[in-house]
Amino acid sequence: MKTETKKNDVTTKSVVKELNSFLEGNYMAIHAYENYIHHIEDEKIKKQLQEIQQNHKQHAAMIAERIQNLGGVPVDDAGWMGSMAELFQSIKGATKDPVHILKDAIAGEQRGIKKSQQLLDGDLDPESLALVKKILAADEKHIETLKQLLPQEELL
Ligand SMILES: [Fe+2]
Repeated sequence: MKTETKKNDVTTKSVVKELNSFLEGNYMAIHAYENYIHHIEDEKIKKQLQEIQQNHKQHAAMIAERIQNLGGVPVDDAGWMGSMAELFQSIKGATKDPVHILKDAIAGEQRGIKKSQQLLDGDLDPESLALVKKILAADEKHIETLKQLLPQEELL
């Protein structure tokens, strides 16, 4: 039926839009971690930050693939360097202090998860919903990993 198709088109368009904003958030995270990795001097923490960044790159690729499979065009990464300040703000101070870097990364992950959770209340199709949930679960693990690297007295 014609009307049915039209309704599905509208739904798919809004799913693509939501997934694209999720993808942008992942790009922001990738750039924020680039900044942390550049500044951190502790080799152990650096390795963990690199692993988390690689994980975000995998997530971005998975989201982009889902958008393509829905017939949409994934946003690209260009232009994010300037505006990543939105989610990961305090890194602007370009500190080398590992505690500051870890806390900023944790705060950024938390803001990202909070923002992305709004997607779960939206109208995602089951496959997209499962993907978002899987990625958010991995982000929760990032927070755990980062917290374990913080000195005990810094944990609230
Ligand atoms: Fe994450």
